[in-house]
Amino acid sequence: MSSKQQFVALSDGHFIPALGFGTYKPNEVPKSKSVEATKLAIGVGYRHIDTAYVYHVEEEIGQAIQSKIKAGDVKREDMFITTKLWCTCFRPELVRPSLEKSLKNLQLDYVDLYIMHFPVPMKSGNNDFPADGQGKLLLDTVDFCATWEALETCKDAGLVKSIGVSNFNHRQLERILNKPGLKYKPVCNQVECHIYNNQSKLLDYCKSKDIVLVAFGALGTQRYKECVDQNSPVLLNDPVLCDVAKKNKRSPALIALRYLVQRGVVPLAQSFKENEMKENLQVFEFQLSSEDMKTLEGLNKNFRYLPVKCFADHPEYPYSEEY
Ligand SMILES: NC(=O)c1ccc[n+]([C@@H]2O[C@H](COP(=O)([O-])OP(=O)(O)OC[C@H]3O[C@@H](n4cnc5c(N)ncnc54)[C@H](OP(=O)(O)O)[C@@H]3O)[C@@H](O)[C@H]2O)c1
Repeated sequence: MSSKQQFVALSDGHFIPALGFGTYKPNEVPKSKSVEATKLAIGVGYRHIDTAYVYHVEEEIGQAIQSKIKAGDVKREDMFITTKLWCTCFRPELVRPSLEKSLKNLQLDYVDLYIMHFPVPMKSGNNDFPADGQGKLLLDTVDFCATWEALETCKDAGLVKSIGVSNFNHRQLERILNKPGLKYKPVCNQVECHIYNNQSKLLDYCKSKDIVLVAFGALGTQRYKECVDQNSPVLLNDPVLCDVAKKNKRSPALIALRYLVQRGVVPLAQSFKENEMKENLQVFEFQLSSEDMKTLEGLNKNFRYLPVKCFADHPEYPYSEEY
């Protein structure tokens, strides 16, 4: 494994690299750029790659991984690859075929982590966001506990090493944990988490259940126009964050990542720029004082860049709960 990475233990005995490389890019970015960027990321030391069926870059990520393996730069067993089950495939009979499709796209025999992308099921079909004539999303009523059982079967079949969830609130996690006949606990919950939404209650809950909190949007998201309010604060420009950065002679991005790592959170960081990719890996090279941690704690305002309001009408919309 790369000496640059550190690892966090998962409850099922596997280990997740403590910083992940995010692969989501809005549609206007040519997919071919994802191949080069992922090769670059592996080249500079990332071993944890986060993708999803719905990002529609699994094929590109697969090409990049295979090319680095063929070049002898990395071994499959040294990589930690996450992909996600999309919300139109929550019916139990659709879970394994969906995973198999992702594996084919990724040119892999197994993924390290397979997670339910969002706890709101939508009608199955060819459309990622099925809608009626008025543009209203067609939601479904599948119980995610049944979806979870299908994920357990995929783990038993060796198609995935670890299984987890994303964007679940603590009550939804509790429902899985209390499910009669539960075979495997979710190893992680991947949620939006950063200085403006530090998820302290959800983090405490997850820690108490041995569930790792993986953070997306750790750097304030890519502020994609279609999902993020363009008037929302630019996280990396936060004056308090910038002061802490100056004091520690590190960039605001590194401080934002270090704040999460030091709380036991596994952040994802997205960048297609080599200098930023390299810089973000320096997160393991320094520590923040407890005073700096406290200062950063004070920036929390439970703010979400990605409230995913299009799901707000569904009873499983996760953000109606406090945490
Ligand atoms: N589970 C979910 O529902 C969910 C939702 C959203 C995202 N995700 C995952 O989480 C990943 C990360 O989230 P994200 O893509 O929204 O964005 P992010 O990691 O918060 O990054 C935001 C932006 O920060 C900039 N950046 C990165 N390193 C930097 C550095 N060292 N200095 C200055 N700027 C830097 C990059 O912009 P520039 O390159 O322009 O500088 C990047 O686009 C995604 O790619 C995806 O894999 C999951």
